[in-house]
Amino acid sequence: MVRTTNFNAGPAALPLEVLQKAQNEFVDFNGAGMSVMELSHRSKEYDAVHQKAKALLKELMEIPDDYEILFLQGGASLQFSMIPMNFLSKEKTAHFIMTGAWSEKALAEAKLFGSTSVIATSEDDTYKYIPDIPEIPADGAYLHLTSNNTIFGTQWQQFPDSPIPLVADMSSDILSRKIDVSKFGIIYAGAQKNLGPSGVTVVIIKKDLLSKENEQVAKILKYSTHAKANSLYNTPPTFAIYMLSLVLEWLKEKGGVAEIEKRNRKKAGILYRAIDESGGFYKGHAREDSRSNMNVTFTLKNDELTKAFIAKAKEERMSGLGGHRSVGGCRASIYNAVSVEDCEKLAAFMKTFREEH
Ligand SMILES: Cc1ncc(COP(=O)(O)O)c(C=O)c1O
Repeated sequence: MVRTTNFNAGPAALPLEVLQKAQNEFVDFNGAGMSVMELSHRSKEYDAVHQKAKALLKELMEIPDDYEILFLQGGASLQFSMIPMNFLSKEKTAHFIMTGAWSEKALAEAKLFGSTSVIATSEDDTYKYIPDIPEIPADGAYLHLTSNNTIFGTQWQQFPDSPIPLVADMSSDILSRKIDVSKFGIIYAGAQKNLGPSGVTVVIIKKDLLSKENEQVAKILKYSTHAKANSLYNTPPTFAIYMLSLVLEWLKEKGGVAEIEKRNRKKAGILYRAIDESGGFYKGHAREDSRSNMNVTFTLKNDELTKAFIAKAKEERMSGLGGHRSVGGCRASIYNAVSVEDCEKLAAFMKTFREEH
């Protein structure tokens, strides 16, 4: 078997050890005589998986006791709606900091439920940077931001102290670096980049928000419903949660978030160096002070060269390097499961390709 070096933006690379462990347990989970997929979500065998995933996430992210950890479905995209549905109304304003296409989607959904305002944006320069934060209005319902911009390749370096609940879409950088959870009211992330396969969405929500939900919301779309039921109100995506538990175990074995953060810095450094030392052959999309350690975006001189780069990389068994259609060029997504060696391989390829062209 030859594994392809996977730079996909999501679904994305998973650690080989995790895939192999899942493979070993696939048909007979822990002596149950059935796959984890076949277990009842009310069984004690599945309960152990569910609790382990929660406990490991709490430990690795140092989530304080006054937060609920929820495993939901609907992707990060459902959170774009579920948050305003529960916490916004016609009399209130939700504030937004716009750093890309995902912030735009979150804003568009919020507009359906109440008043919104954009307090900072980098749209003026195709979202190449994270804008400075103006004073945050103290009377808003919440402030929403996207911590890492998967498409444009920018990432927040530090988070504001907000007088209103800070809500962050961390889909593409959760668990990639240490963060202070207590600064946030809600953190949400689709799993398919740093956490596991698609199908489960992690929501970390401050408990005091649960009593502030709007009343006219369908039961299944209320956070309090899932909090009360330990994310077992309806059948959860059990296999995705199992995979999440394996990824979290793997991360813990690797030394936890502090270690992975160091590794992620190193990986991104290798690729940004390949861009910066290319004499303009490769151009980074993001401004240097806003560069993402998860999605490295860059362009080549023209479409023809870009296509040749992607095709040649594929020949060398590196995939997922095409940029998002709205930015063009290339993007290497280097989430936690992508290794330093994978990044070295890509950087070496970038050098050879440049010399040949
Ligand atoms: C930052 C960010 N937010 C939201 C989404 C949408 O996630 P989902 O497909 O889980 O709804 C993505 C997907 O790539 C993303 O990168």
